[in-house]
Amino acid sequence: MTMTIPAAMPDLAGHAEPSDAAGTTATSLYDAIGGHAALVAAVNGLFGRLLADPELAPFFPGGVGERHRRYVVTMLAEALGGPHRYRGPGLADSHQGLGITGAQFDRTAAHLVATLDGLGVPADLASQVIALVAGLRPAVVTA
Ligand code: HEM
Repeated sequence: MTMTIPAAMPDLAGHAEPSDAAGTTATSLYDAIGGHAALVAAVNGLFGRLLADPELAPFFPGGVGERHRRYVVTMLAEALGGPHRYRGPGLADSHQGLGITGAQFDRTAAHLVATLDGLGVPADLASQVIALVAGLRPAVVTA
């Protein structure tokens, strides 16, 4: 009888060494970028950039409140495979009527790339984050 190749390597289960992360699916993108703390920093950085961008700031006339920041952190955490579950309003409902264009979505995504880069998130991980965020586009873009 021939040997079976193990689908997973149980002996690696307890070792989350960074060198293992790239080659396996055991580590979520959420963990790979640094978990909750990294996402909070990313969302705060992102909103700092959005509020400083004359094209996007008008969407947030009253600034960005704590609840909104938390919602976005949780929403992204879930999208990236983290343990949290987003329970806020539906993304399509939240953005309906705001008239966000595809170009404005792309501009926001570019700010997210710059933010992740500024936080030292490796480019390959950042592009995976962006690919996931791109999947949310149909819920956000209405114009
Ligand atoms: C994938 C990208 C996005 C995610 C994950 C996201 C996430 C969210 C979430 C979870 C909410 C609900 C928050 C709440 O009700 O407090 C929300 C609301 C909102 N989003 Fe987004 N959003 C995205 C893209 C955008 C873009 C591109 C814009 C504008 C350029 C935008 C502008 C807004 C505004 C103005 C609100 C309402 C804010 C408020 O009530 O204070 N969002 N977003």
